[in-house]
Amino acid sequence: MAQEIKSLAIATAPFAEKPRHAGKFRRLLARLSSLPSRAIDKIEWFGLTTQKIANTLRFEHFWREKIAKDHRVTIVPTFNKTTGKHPIWNVAINWINANSASGTILELGTNNGGSLKYFVDHLPQTFRLVGFDCFEGLPESWDGLPAGSIKGFGGPVELWADEPEKRREVVANLERGIMFPPPPQPNVEIESGLFSESVTRYLIRSGWPRDLRFIHFDADLYISTRPVLDTICGTLRYRYLILFDEFYSVNHEFKAWSEFVDLYKLSDWRVLSASEDGSQLLIEMNVHAPLG
Ligand SMILES: C[S@@+](CC[C@H](N)C(=O)[O-])C[C@H]1O[C@@H](n2cnc3c(N)ncnc32)[C@H](O)[C@@H]1O
Repeated sequence: MAQEIKSLAIATAPFAEKPRHAGKFRRLLARLSSLPSRAIDKIEWFGLTTQKIANTLRFEHFWREKIAKDHRVTIVPTFNKTTGKHPIWNVAINWINANSASGTILELGTNNGGSLKYFVDHLPQTFRLVGFDCFEGLPESWDGLPAGSIKGFGGPVELWADEPEKRREVVANLERGIMFPPPPQPNVEIESGLFSESVTRYLIRSGWPRDLRFIHFDADLYISTRPVLDTICGTLRYRYLILFDEFYSVNHEFKAWSEFVDLYKLSDWRVLSASEDGSQLLIEMNVHAPLG
């Protein structure tokens, strides 16, 4: 027999032109609501700058505690045009090769595919590599760059770097709005779209990685880093590596990392390598646990 659904009584209050703030301070602040939006933007800028100052001081503290006191940390040169980021990538690759013969590598922020190509070229084919990107540039403004910055060709074209003719064709097709084909490397997969959608899609399809060796965060933004750290890294209890590409961006990757380790109360990790300026940072997670 169908259950009878009764509508519930709703208590109402008099119509309000303005919100009835509960707190005294909020009521006081609300008096400033007639300020022009440019002035409100200035207030926000002041807030972000203050946060940057606090996070820069925290960054110095981090360096003192986690790097200066640990002489095992490999310091590599700051990014330059000659060596690129190869020195710290090589530290990661050597660790992976020394510790395992297969596993999963994830890259958040693949863009033209330059870093992913380097990793796939230097690891055996038994490793599966997955690159995530929306290929539309940064979804939000970042450290002075507007949203949409760092947009490359619109696909991971460097994966075809060994076949210049094919690479040119992929680039030309992207310019005409034609999607790039599957990567030429059978062990590389590309997940297109915003991480909020593509990471979720990947996890539903493949499950949580049981053999993650290395996760490369190269999406610059706090909002692109913290949710993935929480979702993927928050659950892993085995040994693996995390590489941040813009760790010195104190309101973004550094903030995401600091909040993440606090939230999950993680202490069994160490810095394996850092660039001299702190922009790239390689972390070994769950140091005392076995590999997955
Ligand atoms: C610095 S680039 C990556 C460079 C690449 N790893 C390399 O070394 O060649 C950053 C990339 O992150 C992507 N990105 C940032 N936030 C994202 C998000 N929430 N979802 C998808 N892609 C994102 C941007 O589209 C951009 O291509």
